Amino acid sequence: MKAEDGSIVLTGFMGTGKSTIGQLVASRLQRPFLDMDAVLETRLNQPIVDFFATHGEEAFREQETQLCAELAQREGCVISTGGGTLVPSHNQALWATETHLLVCLWATPAQLTLRLQGDTQRPLLRGDWQQLYLEREAQYRKLPHHLDTDAKTPNQLVQEVVGLWQQHTGHDTTSPH
Ligand code: S3P
Repeated sequence: MKAEDGSIVLTGFMGTGKSTIGQLVASRLQRPFLDMDAVLETRLNQPIVDFFATHGEEAFREQETQLCAELAQREGCVISTGGGTLVPSHNQALWATETHLLVCLWATPAQLTLRLQGDTQRPLLRGDWQQLYLEREAQYRKLPHHLDTDAKTPNQLVQEVVGLWQQHTGHDTTSPH
């Protein structure tokens, strides 16, 4: 596979904007968009929060790893992962090819507090998510590309992701292929 056949994979902690930015990047590059949480909810036939409650986190992580293995074989998509998807090294390894572009989005805990307040659909927000953020930080840092989102508009972030994609493929891909 050539670099332009790969997918753009957006990851990062809950609330960093993976789905919003992923969707915008996909429409800018005219590529299919896949939101892993949405795919899993369809596959599991229930909201993630309900699946966590009835089957537990470990069962969810198994489903997530299975989906990673499937999606890593696909070409040319823009994919938003869940916040925990690329925390385990074995899931990062599934995507580690020359072709896919992995980008981790960041926001400070202060910014995340604002963005996540009132959310009832994310089971892990019921625990100490700031501690989770600290625990995950080192794993996220292993990813090849990082973008801070705190003080940027969605449009600026789309530009930055598209810029990384152009570097990755070695040419201007803003016009649809
Ligand atoms: C999770 C993040 C969620 C979802 C699930 C677990 C996590 O996705 O996959 O609730 O472990 O951080 P978002 O990051 O899209 O909220």
